[in-house]
Amino acid sequence: MCGIVAYIGNKNAYPIIVKGLKRLEYRGYDSAGLALLNGDLNIYKIKGKVSQLEAFAADKDLRGSIGIGHTRWATHGEPNDINAHPHLSDNGRLAIIHNGIIENSDSLKKLLTRDGHTFTSETDTEVLVQFIGSVQQKYNLPIEEAVRQALGSVIGAYAIVLIDKEDPTKIVAARKGSPLVVGVGDSEFFLASDATPIVEYTKKMIYLNDEEIVIMDRDNLEIKTIANIPKKPEIQEVELAVDELEKGGYEHFMLKEIYQQGQTIADAMRGRMSHIESWVKMGGMEEYEEKFRKAKRLIIVACGTSWHAGLVAEYLFEDLARVPVEVEYASEFRYRNPILTEEDIVIAISQSGETADTLAALELARSKGALIYGVVNVVGSSISRLTHAGSYIHAGPEIGVASTKAFTGQLSIFTLMALYLANAKGTISRTYFQKLLNELTIIPGKIEEILKQNDQIKYIAAEIKNSNNAIYLGRGFNFPIALEGALKLKEISYIHAEGYPAAEMKHGPIALIDEKMPVIVIATNKNAYEKVVSNVQEIKARKGIVVSIVAKGDEQISRLSDYTIEIPPTEDPLAPLLSVIPLQLLSYHIAVMRQCNVDQPRNLAKSVTVE
Ligand code: AGP
Ligand code: GLU
Repeated sequence: MCGIVAYIGNKNAYPIIVKGLKRLEYRGYDSAGLALLNGDLNIYKIKGKVSQLEAFAADKDLRGSIGIGHTRWATHGEPNDINAHPHLSDNGRLAIIHNGIIENSDSLKKLLTRDGHTFTSETDTEVLVQFIGSVQQKYNLPIEEAVRQALGSVIGAYAIVLIDKEDPTKIVAARKGSPLVVGVGDSEFFLASDATPIVEYTKKMIYLNDEEIVIMDRDNLEIKTIANIPKKPEIQEVELAVDELEKGGYEHFMLKEIYQQGQTIADAMRGRMSHIESWVKMGGMEEYEEKFRKAKRLIIVACGTSWHAGLVAEYLFEDLARVPVEVEYASEFRYRNPILTEEDIVIAISQSGETADTLAALELARSKGALIYGVVNVVGSSISRLTHAGSYIHAGPEIGVASTKAFTGQLSIFTLMALYLANAKGTISRTYFQKLLNELTIIPGKIEEILKQNDQIKYIAAEIKNSNNAIYLGRGFNFPIALEGALKLKEISYIHAEGYPAAEMKHGPIALIDEKMPVIVIATNKNAYEKVVSNVQEIKARKGIVVSIVAKGDEQISRLSDYTIEIPPTEDPLAPLLSVIPLQLLSYHIAVMRQCNVDQPRNLAKSVTVE
């Protein structure tokens, strides 16, 4: 949810922390702050962006080779200067930054208040640092022991980093449910919510596990569990190029990521299929092929855009591999006492691999004996480490909060998974299998063709940018794309939008249609084309503004529409990979024209590590 960066070494910590916070700002961005140790403990924090923090700190004492920094996504208390992190213990000794929620903060606060502690902020984080401080004071403990003993009584999710004014040689950090990565340098260590702020200094990372505490000085690092069991640090080399974290000449990360999709889809498929030799190989599935073949049901759990990818996967698996699929919101599934057997396979989809609801749904499925499989982008993330097997989508870092390239990466993986299973089960003819492989190979090229229509899409964006509402319609494989198109518009332009299966319109939403309502119709399907034509006629009869996405050469729907975007034709199961692209661009341009913050839309965060 938020971004954490910390540094201990021989360099000046301030520039490393500020640069790191900027890299992490996509995770949470309502306030920012940092603490530096240089004999004194200096804390600077402010509501707003990291650039505002920088301006605020410019004339202050910025010395110190130990420091911690935070961008916040508020859960307890509004975003303001006081609630911003770091928070201090009331004896002024400990400073903390925190990502997550302390669920028993109310009861801890009551206890602490009874003991005479006072609070300046409304945050659960301040309660935590006071609690650790009180344990430290009561038993006269070094910081690492105080943290360890206090965490034994803490309920909730956290990644925390602390420094101690009276022990200015150390940083102590811990995690449970929220991510934390250690970067190992030469006489220096880094800590961050993910690898992105660290890779320019070192590629050597340690991914902390839940309930682990790390204690570091400049030269040494020690890991132990909350139960005081020592752990051997496992260092991994991370492959992440710094230029992947830059905008690379684009105005926004979202635009860059939209334009990368021809490449990222090719990357997702690389080494996993060959149309020349006619095979699909999915490493993660091979190991469990028999289980997949015999599975009575696939249950897909995810949130948001990833959930939409799950809906496309449902159509793919059912159509090609003839296996029943249920697609569940992870947040509902986890609290529903779901019926699960060992013949079910639970598949989690997550760009970040850290979404709290998806993680909890997986833990539940695992405890009931189901095989759990992950389709994840971020390598080494919590979900990827929890699953029995899985497939990375290899889309590279997605920085724009609105998901684009991760979505098409997910769709690519599911297309391959469904083809692999269909082949293994014999539910697909050789000819159709080959046809889909041939077509998949040329999808990246077709995406490049769609991107060339950017100007036409921008023109349509200008025509509808002042609408207050929008409806998105699609059928079959394109129905989930209608949902995704509507979500993209809502997220970044703040226009209210809804997606529906095209035929559902007449069961209610049609009442909304008048001459001011843009209706975006995704009509590239070969199947049920005539039905979509009728749906468009129904909209025009009520004077709605029709924007249609059609396959090149289409005549009927184009004739009926006010605006048309033509995309290259493809097979229905692959249609989502193409039809979503113009919708991403349409939302992007509308948001830019409405002067919205495209990469960091209000109230959202890239990685939702709280419930
Ligand atoms: C995507 O545009 C959203 N910001 C959001 O719906 C996202 O897809 C959702 O929070 C799930 O995230 P995940 O894929 O990282 O689990
Ligand atoms: N719960 C804490 C707060 O509201 C941390 C939120 C975060 O993860 O940014 O300050």
